[in-house]
Amino acid sequence: MDRIAITGGARLQGEIPISGAKNSAIKLMAASLLTDEPLRLTNMPRLADTRFLGKLLARLGAEVVESEGPDGPETLLTTREIVSGFAPYELVRQMRASFNVLGPLLARNGQAKVSLPGGCSIGARPVDLHLKALEALGAKIDLHEGYVYAQAPRGLQGAVIDFPFNSVGATEHAMLAAVLAHGDTVLENAAAEPELADLADCLNAMGAKVSGAGTRTIHIQGVSRLSGTTHAVVPDRIETGTYAMAAAIAGGEVRLTRTRSDFIQALLDKMVEAGVDVTPHSDGLTIKRNGARLNAVEITTEQYPGFATDLQAQFMALMTLADGESVFRETIFENRFMHVPELARLGADISVHGGEARVRGVASLEGAQVMATDLRASVSLVIAGLAAQGETVVNRVYHLDRGFERLEEKLCACGAQVRRLKGDGEEEVE
Ligand code: EPZ
Repeated sequence: MDRIAITGGARLQGEIPISGAKNSAIKLMAASLLTDEPLRLTNMPRLADTRFLGKLLARLGAEVVESEGPDGPETLLTTREIVSGFAPYELVRQMRASFNVLGPLLARNGQAKVSLPGGCSIGARPVDLHLKALEALGAKIDLHEGYVYAQAPRGLQGAVIDFPFNSVGATEHAMLAAVLAHGDTVLENAAAEPELADLADCLNAMGAKVSGAGTRTIHIQGVSRLSGTTHAVVPDRIETGTYAMAAAIAGGEVRLTRTRSDFIQALLDKMVEAGVDVTPHSDGLTIKRNGARLNAVEITTEQYPGFATDLQAQFMALMTLADGESVFRETIFENRFMHVPELARLGADISVHGGEARVRGVASLEGAQVMATDLRASVSLVIAGLAAQGETVVNRVYHLDRGFERLEEKLCACGAQVRRLKGDGEEEVE
């Protein structure tokens, strides 16, 4: 299994181009099941998760072709017909967002059998809201032996769906199903993350009639068929925020390009409060820090546009070296402090009580072997390693590969000392 070794202490100087958003790309890929025409996705991130979903879509009938376009990586997906409506446990278990093929399969095929995803290291993550939304759209849902058996032989029917709380996945899932339903659908108390607006933009370019995505109320007028289109994946706000924090902890000056600073405004406000110099520009932002110790600040994770739960672990890494005590309140997932014991191995002083973590800033961190537990937790360890004295080795790097494209290359281009240790660590690659 690969590992990542970081030799801390190097200041970062340079430019990091941000990739397309993983959490948008995988929903856009699922949207390709809704049409028999080709969907060309540009600005595609090349990640373990997108490769993985490509394999599942191919099983369902999609032809998936990756290429290098004039503006970077592209994926062309063509599903002339659905050859199978079955998504097995082995595949859905490995990447829970695979569950979102259920809605498109139902909408286009009238039936599907998709495994329930099960739990996850960051929380129980039930899919009850997804299933209730599909039922509200007229699907008949039965659960047997870990599988969802869903049917809508006469098609789905538009409905008013009032979510009890904002769920990114359930909102996207309902949207993916409702675009081909008969009649109108209203999604109330919808999630408003930028990836939802991106999905709506793509669906609209395919001929759907979706309005209000990115707000709490989304209107969808069902259409009888969708066509192909070309759509550029929105920039990855979590990757953007992660490299912003990498630059802040290491010190120096890094320009993040091909992205949008407004997607991470809540994070940037906190970084400025902590003492980081942030300059937005039309193509992204520049992060600068020159030596001075950061101030401790408090954060509470919230739905967009609040402070993203997917940036909490990285911000905690940053605060381990701040002056004073910072408080972290995690409100989205119940088990999202798995990075705490690993940061403690590097010398961080953190205590956790329920959904709250208190971080007392220390003067320095010291490199050590650490274990990645999930995607964002693992990158927080890389961030801490950039500032730790000596070498930090992050094990179980496959978590990182799910969501960060060419991480070592992007950081090294700015002067970081980050190497991938292949396999058991004997053979070293860049
Ligand atoms: C998406 O997960 C992202 N994943 C997550 O990113 C992100 O952390 C999360 O949104 C919040 O922003 C993808 O887009 C693939 P939710 P999702 O439905 O859709 C509960 C990463 O590292 N809930 O908004 O699963 C749920 O348990 C990942 O890239 C129900 O109770 O998040 C959670 O507590 C991790 N029932 C809360 O709602 C449901 O049916 C919000 O989850 C659905 C969700």
